[in-house]
Amino acid sequence: MRNYDLEFLKHFSMVIGFLMLVTLGLILGAIWLNGTRAVDEDPSIVAATEARLGPAGGVHAGASGAAALAAQAEAARAAAASQVAYGGTEDGSVIYGNLCGACHTAGAGGAPKLEEAAWAPRKAKGVDTLIQHAIGGFQGEAGIMPPRGGNPALTDAQITATVQWMLDNLK
Ligand code: HEC
Repeated sequence: MRNYDLEFLKHFSMVIGFLMLVTLGLILGAIWLNGTRAVDEDPSIVAATEARLGPAGGVHAGASGAAALAAQAEAARAAAASQVAYGGTEDGSVIYGNLCGACHTAGAGGAPKLEEAAWAPRKAKGVDTLIQHAIGGFQGEAGIMPPRGGNPALTDAQITATVQWMLDNLK
């Protein structure tokens, strides 16, 4: 007598095995196909990577972000340029006219005016001392001379030139 159940089980497991082979083939085929495809880089991922590589504090977001960054760099350049007081001039008359004269021309706050009488006792201290006092600030009996006249961007050379110009222009 034939055992139908056993025969069915045999055929059924053969079908299942065949289907599993087909499945495996499809999976391997899909993996192989995927490997042969040239993948375009996702622009949003590229942008995110560039943002991570950018300078700290820089804000990137598409084209407008790039424009903002360019503006930021431009502003930084402008700020750096303005750190150089009066365009970096070492013309004492320009620096005096822009800054020191505010006190020294009128004698505001006890500042010695550009008069021989006011400067004779100061000159006696030596020009180097006067320059040091102009750079580092000086408090005497007359009042307070702020360091670098209150503009820290002035270089030592600029202060030196200005003090020299003042001493050369006493009346
Ligand atoms: C805010 C006002 C003010 C400004 C601005 C100012 N000075 Fe004076 N300066 C004074 C006063 C006040 C004194 C007198 C201090 C004292 O002897 O008591 C003085 C004194 C000096 C002295 C003499 C220091 C000494 O040892 O006797 C020199 C040099 C000098 N200033 C140079 C400059 C130069 C250069 C500038 C500009 C870069 C400048 N000052 C800007 C107020 C000012």
